[in-house]
Amino acid sequence: MAFTVAIDGPAAAGKGTISKAVAAHFGFAHLDTGLLYRAVGAQVLAGGDPVTVARALNPADLEHDNLRTPAVAQAASEVAVIADVRSALVDFQRKFAARDGGAVLDGRDIGTVICPDAQAKLFITASAECRAERRYKELTGKGLSITLAQVLEDVKARDARDSSRATAPLIAAADAALIDTSDLSIAAAVARAVAAVEAAQ
Ligand code: C5P
Repeated sequence: MAFTVAIDGPAAAGKGTISKAVAAHFGFAHLDTGLLYRAVGAQVLAGGDPVTVARALNPADLEHDNLRTPAVAQAASEVAVIADVRSALVDFQRKFAARDGGAVLDGRDIGTVICPDAQAKLFITASAECRAERRYKELTGKGLSITLAQVLEDVKARDARDSSRATAPLIAAADAALIDTSDLSIAAAVARAVAAVEAAQ
C-alpha cells in the first residue's frame, strides 16, 4: 500500500537532509521535487521555453550535477511561478507518491497541492539567517566564491517569490507538523521528523 510523507519548507531549512534520513529510516523512496524545477530552470538558462521543457522533462534530466548552483536555483524559482510549468510536473510527482512501499517527497507544495491526502505532512523551517549560513557553508565548501550577504539576499528573494506566487505558494498545510530547525542539530531534527511520521502510521 502507498504511504506518502509530504515534506515542505523554504530553501535550506534542512528538508533535503531530513527527507533522506526519513526515507532511509522507513525504507521509503525519496523524490527531491526541487530537482524538477531546477532541471527546467537549467534548460531555460540554456535557451529553452519553460513550458515546452517542463512537458518534455524526463527522469534522466534530474541526474545532472550542475543543478545545485545559485544561478539554477534562481532560474528554478522563476519558472516555478508559471502555472503551466507546475501542472506539467504534477503527474510525475503523484505517480511517485503512489508507488508501493512508501514515498517521501520534499518541496514547497507537496502537502497542499501535490499530495493533500498524504498520510504524514511535515513543514520544516528555520530563520533566514540560519538558512543562509548553512547554504553559504555548503556552497563555499564546494569551492564557490560567494559572500554570506549574497547568499542571504538570494534566500530572501527566493522566499519572497515562493511565498507570494499565485499558484501553489509556499505555505504550511493546516495539518502539517511544524519543525523549526534553527536551534536543532541534524540528529535532533531527524528524530522529530521520524517521530511525526511514526505518529501518523
Ligand atoms: O528545493 P529547491 O531549493 O531545490 O527548489 C528550487 C526552487 O524550485 C524553489 O525555490 C521553488 O521556487 C521551486 N520549487 C517549487 N515547488 C516545489 C519544489 C521546488 O516551486 N515542490
